[in-house]
Amino acid sequence: MCGIVGYIGPQDPVEILVEGLRRLEYRGYDSAGVAVVDENGDLSIRRAEGKLRDLEKVLAGNPLTGKYGVGHTRWATHGRPSEENAHPHRDCSGRLVVIHNGIIENYIELKHELAAQGHEFVTETDTEIVAHAIEQEMRDSGNDLSEAMRRVLPRLRGIYALVAMSVDDPETIVAARQGPPLVVGIGKDEYFVASDIPAILSHTKDMIFMEDGELVVLRREGPKFLSPDGSEIEKTPERIPWDPIMAEKGGYKHFMLKEIHEQPRAVRDTLLGRVSLESGQILMEEEMGFSDEQLRSIERMCIVACGTSWHAGQVGKFLVERLSGVPVEVDYASEFRYRHPLVDEKTLPVYISQSGETADTLAALREAKSKGAACLGICNVTGSMLTREAAGTIYTHAGPEIGVASTKAFTSQLTALVLMAIRLGQARGTLAEDQVRDIVKHLYHIPAQMEHYLADESQIIEIAKEFHDRHNFLYLGRGVNYPIALEGALKLKEISYIHAEGYPAGEMKHGPIALIDEKMPVVAITPHDKVFEKMLSNIEEVRARSGVVIAVTDQPNKDLEAKADAVIQVPQTHELLSPLLMVLPLQLLAYHIALLLGCDVDQPRNLAKSVTVE
Ligand code: AGP
Repeated sequence: MCGIVGYIGPQDPVEILVEGLRRLEYRGYDSAGVAVVDENGDLSIRRAEGKLRDLEKVLAGNPLTGKYGVGHTRWATHGRPSEENAHPHRDCSGRLVVIHNGIIENYIELKHELAAQGHEFVTETDTEIVAHAIEQEMRDSGNDLSEAMRRVLPRLRGIYALVAMSVDDPETIVAARQGPPLVVGIGKDEYFVASDIPAILSHTKDMIFMEDGELVVLRREGPKFLSPDGSEIEKTPERIPWDPIMAEKGGYKHFMLKEIHEQPRAVRDTLLGRVSLESGQILMEEEMGFSDEQLRSIERMCIVACGTSWHAGQVGKFLVERLSGVPVEVDYASEFRYRHPLVDEKTLPVYISQSGETADTLAALREAKSKGAACLGICNVTGSMLTREAAGTIYTHAGPEIGVASTKAFTSQLTALVLMAIRLGQARGTLAEDQVRDIVKHLYHIPAQMEHYLADESQIIEIAKEFHDRHNFLYLGRGVNYPIALEGALKLKEISYIHAEGYPAGEMKHGPIALIDEKMPVVAITPHDKVFEKMLSNIEEVRARSGVVIAVTDQPNKDLEAKADAVIQVPQTHELLSPLLMVLPLQLLAYHIALLLGCDVDQPRNLAKSVTVE
């Protein structure tokens, strides 16, 4: 979960590297560094503990200029956050540097081998050993940097996105991928390598996504891609359909707030061209990569994901079972991958991931594929690993999601799941046309309803002011909104650091009700559905124990207003689509509480946007 960027071309690299790192800070931000090679062929490094702004202060006091270079922003895995553990890391000679995203699991063993050959180490990191191993290889074999790196890679166990440069192989940057993503940008006589699209999007929209096992050699004349055996491979650039502005804050205080407000467009774009309003027919066969016949043949579905994407999967279970009759299990990827899951060609495994690079989710996908299942992905990033390894992908067209706390990707995932569930129902004949038209009609109103609700944050700001000093929250929901209780709790805890738990409301009396007192706000998701009265009873139980209730509903109701301390109203929609609207106030509540607490909303402590390591 670190950020990597490299540049070779006619411009001075430092500004490009720092700007690229700024756009990657959401991937990790406990220290950062840059290394450049200048006109005289000298290699210089600047590093700093803390945020990118701390590195910029170092650069302001001790400027760097060069001809090409690499940069790194870190999320510490081995070795505490510190200046000496910050990347780039040198070899003994100081003529070679490496930056790295991932984990080298056998670094201790390699460190001992290299120490026996006289190498001395100055950091606690796993990365440093790679610089020394390449140095040793160049020394032993006289190979150039790319060949030396290619020979070292098989000795590394673990996952890595590595970028190296050496003054003994001038005007060359070499990168290798095994796990964490690397994308190569093709500019006009300039070339880039980065962990993610936003880092280089302002320079070029033409990008090549590296696959596991591949190396790339960047020189002024262009990139050369190599397979693990050293043979050259042809790769074609893809044009990224994102506008650089989309990756900027657009006037909002934080990316998270911008992305909350982008949800109407994200849902609209995810719907676009995928369903006929007249017939309700879902037009996704080609894109999904699964024929109607294949969909008729499956006997069960497992939805596998992490975090917020797992919450989307939980909503997906309700949608698929209700609309298609296919039984669904929802699993954490980190559990699924180690449980010898019961998967065969009659199972449709569905993997949900915003980034498409989450290590556990990718490993779980590979586990299912090894058992003969054809897997479906739901993903937000073109060219990410998930989209390359799944048999088909439904893209969520949410645009780049920079805030660590996922918002627009989540509601876009829900939209994609609705379309998938309808398609499944249509293929299996379990859905009447009028049922489909009813859902589709409501679905098309969701973006406007989102816009309507999001236009006024004043009530949420007042509620945040009243409760931002509490230390525990409980979120309750039922049915298709039980996962929204989980999601609301995750949003609050991951950006405000307040402990919060989501619970099925019916479970209150089996334990959580012991927690209730006047200090514990309870957020009760209470749409007017068939369990509305049950939710009213749960609210009554909380009130009877001096609990504080913040209700989220979709219609005015005197009883609810009498029982709850605050009532938030969102527009009403089809029961199965209510999560798309019920989640909005919960996202805003987490945001405004975190803001009042002075938390770093876009880059919460200990987290990173894409968990590309286990
Ligand atoms: C969401 O707010 C969190 N940042 C996190 O739980 C995230 O959803 C999870 O890491 C999965 O990421 P993915 O969707 O990119 O796979």
